Amino acid sequence: MDMKNRRKLDDMTPREIVASLDEYVIGQEDAKKMIAVAIRNRVRRKALPDEIKNEVTPKNIIMIGPTGVGKTEIARRIARLASAPFIKVEATKYTEVGYVGRDVESMVRDLMASSLNLVKEELYKTRESEVDHKVEERLLDLLLPEVEREKNGQVSEDVIQTREKFRDMLRRGVFDDKEIEIEAKPQMRISGVGVFPASDGQMEDLNNMISDLGSVFGKGRGQKKKVTIKRAREIIKEEELDKLTNNDNVVEEARKRTEEMGIIFIDEIDKICSKGSHNNQDVSREGVQRDILPIVEGTKVSTKWGVIDTTNILFIAAGAFSMSKPSDLIPELQGRFPLRVELKDLTADDFYRILQEPSNAMVKQYKALLSTEGVTLEFTDEALRRISAIAEEANKRTDNIGARRLHTVMERLLEDISFNADLKRGETVLVTEEFVDERLGGIIVDQDLTRYIL
Ligand SMILES: Nc1ncnc2c1ncn2[C@@H]1O[C@H](COP(=O)(O)OP(=O)(O)OP(=O)(O)O)[C@@H](O)[C@H]1O
Ligand SMILES: [Mg+2]
Repeated sequence: MDMKNRRKLDDMTPREIVASLDEYVIGQEDAKKMIAVAIRNRVRRKALPDEIKNEVTPKNIIMIGPTGVGKTEIARRIARLASAPFIKVEATKYTEVGYVGRDVESMVRDLMASSLNLVKEELYKTRESEVDHKVEERLLDLLLPEVEREKNGQVSEDVIQTREKFRDMLRRGVFDDKEIEIEAKPQMRISGVGVFPASDGQMEDLNNMISDLGSVFGKGRGQKKKVTIKRAREIIKEEELDKLTNNDNVVEEARKRTEEMGIIFIDEIDKICSKGSHNNQDVSREGVQRDILPIVEGTKVSTKWGVIDTTNILFIAAGAFSMSKPSDLIPELQGRFPLRVELKDLTADDFYRILQEPSNAMVKQYKALLSTEGVTLEFTDEALRRISAIAEEANKRTDNIGARRLHTVMERLLEDISFNADLKRGETVLVTEEFVDERLGGIIVDQDLTRYIL
């Protein structure tokens, strides 16, 4: 993540938010703008005097658009930008068999967990060297247990020197794969400080259960296990971070952020539409809508970190709505998503840009992949134009699957080059318009072939 992405979402103007989304998502300006404004409005709200502040609630958004045009991608990128707590859930997961006992409120708990990770990460950044030093000392204690024993008595010059030698080796990663025994606390908390933590609420529930069990059988009783130094470093760091952040201020800050700045992205919302006929599946879908409703309207959800008020959490929903319309949602829920934005079908011109512009563009990826085997891959401009036109054509002739079509087209195009890369070491392979036509021209004119191959 570069510095620009690390900038606080709070400080970013809508224009800047759109600009950073532009790095990954081509077009879809309306959707980007709407989301940017919604995010900005929450920062504005925070600055209001209390009387007015409490009157301003977020305007939730539904993004509507065909498959593969960037709905989920926008969410993913917002998450990366977000110094605001953010989680993405699939509405469908609440309709799944086995849903029993898993309530939709878990999305709020997951959001809080994400917020907590964020706050912890920020805290860690300000205390990084302190934590790292403690971790190093503990690793050295593990590697040189005899020092521990000698602690009360005199520590000889030798021991100190050995320790410093080990410290140096440790830093150089010499011991990374060495196995040692450590005492792990019986709490298996969600590790890592990513922005998509515990996207699966089940994990959190499980953790709760485990720590509950832990308290039954006596908390804090360590369990010895053998791990590599590399892993031990992570575990110990996690422990030290917990020590550092195990106080109410951190939880309080995380709770405040969840309530004031939290964003929940509900993907595939169209899949929980029911269409009047009341078969079992529709009942369960409508049930999910009814379960979600209070959370979107504003309710208090209790979590192990205290009660979270959801009134000011921003909800962004997305769906293709190919088989249904937003008006197939229960009216109460529709009313809670006043902002609608449509994402547009992608054209050949969009594909041409999507192929090369985004920071993770497909052309860049293929070049990088082949360069690992010493093959330089180049495309002429005409070739890229031709690929884009073929993708558009294939979308028209069969199903419109948006930018996902580019993946199948590119795979097919580069199949042979990929397969024979080892024979082309040191060479430059230039993909020309003729090459594209040769590989794909025959397929695109035959509708059946297109259907099966592209
Ligand atoms: N506008 C775009 N700019 C850049 N890449 C895009 C764009 N639209 C789609 N893509 C690429 O296409 C793939 C699918 O996009 P995405 O997951 O956003 O689809 P979606 O709109 O959520 O579709 P679905 O309704 O099927 O969930 C992603 O790999 C994404 O990178
Ligand atoms: Mg999607």
